[in-house]
Amino acid sequence: MPENRVPRRRRFLVCEPRHFAVQYAINPWMSTGRPVDVIRALDQWQALVDAYRAHGHTVDTVAPVPGLPDMVFAANCAVVVEGRVLGSHFHAPERRGESVAYEAWFKTEGFEVQHPGAVCEGEGDLVPAGRWILAGTGFRTTPEAHREAQEFFGVPVISLTLVDPYFYHLDTALFVLDEENVAYYPGAFSPGSREVLERLYPHAVIATREDAMAFGLNSVSDGRNVFISPGAGELADRLSGCGYVPVPVDLSEFHKAGGGIKCCTQEIRETRS
Ligand code: ARG
Repeated sequence: MPENRVPRRRRFLVCEPRHFAVQYAINPWMSTGRPVDVIRALDQWQALVDAYRAHGHTVDTVAPVPGLPDMVFAANCAVVVEGRVLGSHFHAPERRGESVAYEAWFKTEGFEVQHPGAVCEGEGDLVPAGRWILAGTGFRTTPEAHREAQEFFGVPVISLTLVDPYFYHLDTALFVLDEENVAYYPGAFSPGSREVLERLYPHAVIATREDAMAFGLNSVSDGRNVFISPGAGELADRLSGCGYVPVPVDLSEFHKAGGGIKCCTQEIRETRS
């Protein structure tokens, strides 16, 4: 009998894809020759927001800014743990304006924002996982930023090295199921980092490359419901077998920019969970 999983209500921050486009290529998914259907993107995004709300989660929005086509990827703007906000410092100059817009939102909401000195792409690479923070490096966020995050939050930060350019952010290769467990695609990590994950998570849900390429690991879990790309069927079946409830949400239009469900979602963690 799979366990009966208990969901926890979340507060999410998202950004409407009104100005979403692929205008530059900073990861292998992006090609400026493949236009985005903005109407379709708006519909898909609305379905994600509706799914979160239907499951009892709070969804806040930050106003989209013209000229910042990747601003829809709210996960990259910050990491919030126990009400402390570490902002972002993007690798790509094209994305740097996003940090300013998100910081203004956090300030209006009464949060102070700490600026990282090193390249740091928010929850894209810094993934709070219960007692520690899992941190990706190799393509974007630097090991220096991992040290800054540990110092700022006072939470152990575990560095993991990403090796496959298709999985350039940690949140494309791994997601947190609950305080105790994660799902990930081992091929995205260096051999040493794979071993670290095996030690920390002997019961992890392991995904195939196919599931990962379908953005199946760019999922959001509330501890029970897993908002997941419908293309990741095998992974969804495995999750069901472990007592989680897959909630398929199709963000295929966003895959053109290298993003999915988690990329579009920033979690505001106000208290210790
Ligand atoms: N086009 C964006 C980039 O390459 C996509 C960001 C996706 N966000 C994420 N959290 N993985 O920066």
